[in-house]
Amino acid sequence: MSEPFKRPVALVTGAGQGIGQGIARALAKAGHRVVLTDRNAETALASAAVLADGGAETLGLHLEVSDSQAWERVRAEVEACFGGLDLLVNSAGISPRGTVETTDEALWELTLAVNLKGPWLGIKTFLPLLRASRGGVVNIGTTRATRPMPGLFSYITSKAGLLGLTQQVAVEYIDAGITCNMVAPGWVDTPGERVLQAKHGRPDFPNGVRNLTTSDEIGDAVVFFTTPAGRKVTGQILYIDSGMHVADDAGMIYLPHESRTRYHDPEVALRS
Ligand SMILES: NC(=O)c1ccc[n+]([C@@H]2O[C@H](COP(=O)([O-])OP(=O)(O)OC[C@H]3O[C@@H](n4cnc5c(N)ncnc54)[C@H](O)[C@@H]3O)[C@@H](O)[C@H]2O)c1
Repeated sequence: MSEPFKRPVALVTGAGQGIGQGIARALAKAGHRVVLTDRNAETALASAAVLADGGAETLGLHLEVSDSQAWERVRAEVEACFGGLDLLVNSAGISPRGTVETTDEALWELTLAVNLKGPWLGIKTFLPLLRASRGGVVNIGTTRATRPMPGLFSYITSKAGLLGLTQQVAVEYIDAGITCNMVAPGWVDTPGERVLQAKHGRPDFPNGVRNLTTSDEIGDAVVFFTTPAGRKVTGQILYIDSGMHVADDAGMIYLPHESRTRYHDPEVALRS
């Protein structure tokens, strides 16, 4: 008798809200069993419960991504619950403002710890399971990693580093059949982005902004990397940004009364 079909298992960091939650939703819809992790245990569990109510098999876990021991605990729980892992999605991230001069050491270390060290620890911890499944990694970057703007110094540095990490992992594990790619969102309406925009001059965000990407669309892009065609792709960056990377604001993101977007105005980016 053949083995019963087992649904693939995916783990998403920062899945308590925003883009991570959208990715978890898309993966569940595509038939994955999903481990939703977040440093906020309450939102991780609540998001997992919502997907479970919709019929998905889920596990909600607390995970601070910069803590290697926390990753070890999560791996033990995933192994005990699902027996393996097919896809790791590093979505947890922070987007602090600051220039070369205004960024202090504490902010630099925090940004790099969450946005860059976190994904590395996750990949390192789950490598044995990814080797066994010949699985994949998707890192959530940003269009800004390759098209920087003033006032996002530690953020852009961390995400550009994450692109390097993505390509390095892709190269090191080609023979193991493990793929590693980056999905780079443009501008997405999330709870975190609303807080940031309110602080930096757009209290009414997302009003007046056209062509925002949704968290579910980022999720669909991640799902692509689990398809047969997507499994042939590694070391790549997939921009889901309505053209923002190729044409900067692409003439699409502005308030109706403005000739150009305030988002790209360094004075606004720097205002705190
Ligand atoms: N929203 C956008 O426009 C946008 C654009 C480009 C890239 N991104 C990237 O997408 C990712 C998600 O962004 P979002 O807008 O959904 O943010 P968000 O703030 O709405 O959600 C981020 C989630 O990650 C969790 N998190 C933060 N730090 C963590 C840590 N140290 N350990 C574990 N969990 C942690 C938070 O608790 C939260 O649930 C980030 O990596 C961000 O850089 C967002």
